[in-house]
Amino acid sequence: MYSSKIAGIGHYVPDNVVTNDDLSKMMDTSDEWITERTGIKERRWIDPKSDDTPSTMGTKAARIAIENAGITPDDIDFIIFATLSPDYYFPGPGVMVQDQLGIREVGALDVRNQCSGFVYSLSIADQFIKTGMYENILIVGAENHSGGLERSTRGRGVTVIFGDGAGAVVVQRNEEKGSGILSTHLHSEGKHAKELALEGPSTLRWVPEIIEANDPEDSSYYPYMNGNFVFKHAVTRFMEVIGEALMTNGYKPEDISLMIPHQANLRISQFVQKKLGLSDDQVYNNIMRYGNTTAASIPLAMSEAWQEGKIQSGDLLCLAAFGSGFTWASALIRW
Ligand code: UT7
Repeated sequence: MYSSKIAGIGHYVPDNVVTNDDLSKMMDTSDEWITERTGIKERRWIDPKSDDTPSTMGTKAARIAIENAGITPDDIDFIIFATLSPDYYFPGPGVMVQDQLGIREVGALDVRNQCSGFVYSLSIADQFIKTGMYENILIVGAENHSGGLERSTRGRGVTVIFGDGAGAVVVQRNEEKGSGILSTHLHSEGKHAKELALEGPSTLRWVPEIIEANDPEDSSYYPYMNGNFVFKHAVTRFMEVIGEALMTNGYKPEDISLMIPHQANLRISQFVQKKLGLSDDQVYNNIMRYGNTTAASIPLAMSEAWQEGKIQSGDLLCLAAFGSGFTWASALIRW
């Protein structure tokens, strides 16, 4: 049986920087509150005049990942695109990346697992490579949150957290024994679906219905998050799923070279770090600069960590995510 490895990685973020002070001009919030509760100092929000969309940003990140892998778009056998904010309601952005990169007529799959979307995608790619079906799989995670956020005090509990961006990796057949993706672990608990959700427009809440109701109080087409509830579940599930990955492979927290948690809230990462007894060098965070970029968050952080020389050959990397669904997931990688 084959194994798989991450052969190339890249990211792209929009130029437009939005600071906490910028937000405090739109709504009743402050740099102090946002920094203390989330660790975020600034995020990127797409300039509507630019041509940035999840698919175009994803394509830019993908070009870098493909180049880093030392291959060309012609070598890609399959595309996986994770996002909760696709360019269009349908089709998903996977096919747009196929077109924009001029990739052959290979399969393109869209993954709808929100903050866990990248780790779910990694697991899918790993299975396709293990069976021998594909050799080079492109995974993209990209989000345009800013366009759909409520820029007023009513939305502040959600709006201050989210940012736009993209990350991409090439997952490749691995010839070396004992390295690459060691295991992936996927979970869900749908009874909490409504605790972090965007209800409309949807098939339960069609646009004509929203327009007809013409209700200024209606906020169903803005994302909703029960912050405290999500936070409590996040810390529990992060711990469980990281423990599961370590136990499966016979490792202990001290064996981790670098943990890259989904960047949901710095306090969540710090809680997990403390519980596992990890040093600052063992955990990578960039939420301070980008906020929560959902499916883009892990590849964006991994790409920056790699650029900064914090991921070296032989390192044991632990990825973990939790988010809407609820869904949560982890992956252990010997780089
Ligand atoms: O990526 C997917 C997974 N997502 C997560 O894991 C996120 C999990 N949750 C969180 O990160 C945190 O719950 C938040 C950052 C969303 C909120 O932080 P919190 O410490 O849980 O605050 P809170 O919701 O309990 O709100 C505390 C107070 C409230 O005021 P009162 O009721 O105490 O008067 C809020 O209205 O802070 C108020 N508040 C704000 N104040 C200033 C909420 N948002 C803001 C804001 N600026 N942006």
